[in-house]
Amino acid sequence: MEKKRILIDCDTGTDDAIAIVAALYAPDLQVEAITTVTGNVSVKYTSENTLNLVRHLGFDIPVAVGAWGPLKLHTDMCYAEATHGKAGLGDVKLPKSTDSFSSKNAVELIYEKAVELNGELEIVAVGPLTNIAIALLLHPELKNLVKHLWIMGGAVYGGNVTPTAEFNIWCDPEAARMVLRSEIPCTLVGLDVTTKAVLDRDDIRKMRGLETKAGDFVADILEFMDRRRLEGGEDLLMHDALALAAAACPECLKYKDYYVDVECEGTYTYGHTEMDIWEESGHEANVSVAVGIDLPMFKKWLGDTIACSKL
Ligand code: BDR
Ligand code: CA
Repeated sequence: MEKKRILIDCDTGTDDAIAIVAALYAPDLQVEAITTVTGNVSVKYTSENTLNLVRHLGFDIPVAVGAWGPLKLHTDMCYAEATHGKAGLGDVKLPKSTDSFSSKNAVELIYEKAVELNGELEIVAVGPLTNIAIALLLHPELKNLVKHLWIMGGAVYGGNVTPTAEFNIWCDPEAARMVLRSEIPCTLVGLDVTTKAVLDRDDIRKMRGLETKAGDFVADILEFMDRRRLEGGEDLLMHDALALAAAACPECLKYKDYYVDVECEGTYTYGHTEMDIWEESGHEANVSVAVGIDLPMFKKWLGDTIACSKL
C-alpha cells in the first residue's frame, strides 16, 4: 500500500510528542517534514523538543521553526504550561541535538514540500494554525496543492480554555478561520472525541515493556501526565495522536460532514468552532468532523504502531 506523505505542524507538547513518535513508526505514513509553532509553550521550546525527539530516535527528517505568536495578539501569551510543563515535555529530558533546524522557516518548508509532492502532501496540524494560515496568505495556490488537512482542534460542544473554545483554535482563531475557509479537504478531530482518547497505567506498562527508546520516551511522558492527573490535572488524553490516527487508521473514528467556521468576534465565544449541526446556514459542508471514537481500536493502533520501534 502507498504510504501517505505527511507534514506534521505541531507545538510539542506532551501529547504532540506522542503523536510524532507514532507518526515516525506508522507503517502507512511517511513523515516528510515537521514544522513548529508557538502554542503549548513558545516556539523556541516546541522546536527544540521536536528536533531533539526526532534525532534521539534516529530520524533525519527536517524540522523547521515557525511562528512566534498568533496572527492577532489577543492575550499575553497562550501557553499551556500547567499541562505540559515550562518547556513542553513535563519533566522529561531528551539529549540535546547538535543538528541544525531546516534553513527554511516553517511557512517556506510547508510550501516547498507541497510543491515538491505536487498534490500528494497531507498535513497533520496539531497546534495553533498560524503557520498554515501564513503559508496560505503568501501562497494562495497552496490550497490546491495540499491533498488533505487533519486538524486537532475545536469541538462540536464545549471547550477546554473557555466554555466554548478549544486550545489550538483559541490560540489563533483568525488563522483557524482562514484555514477552514481555504477549501482544502479537511478533517477536524476535536474535544468531543479526544477527551475520550484516554490512556492508563496499563498502557504505560506496555510502552515500557517494548524496551525501545521510543517506548521508554512515551512511557516517561505518560508517567509525567499521570502525576499531573493525580495532582488534579487532566486524564492521559491523546488529543494529537488521535488526529494522527484519523489519517493513519480512519476506522478509529466516526465522522459527520458539517459547515464549520470560527468565531472571531464574540466577547465570550472567541475561538469557538461554530458547526452547522442543524444544517440551517445554507452553506455546503466544508469539514469532516470526528464525532465518535472506537477507543479499543485506537489504543490497539497506537500500541501496535509504537511497537514497530526496534531500537
Ligand atoms: C490541544 O491543545 C494542546 O494542549 C494539545 O497539545 C492539543 O493539541 C488540545 O486542546
Ligand atoms: Ca498540540
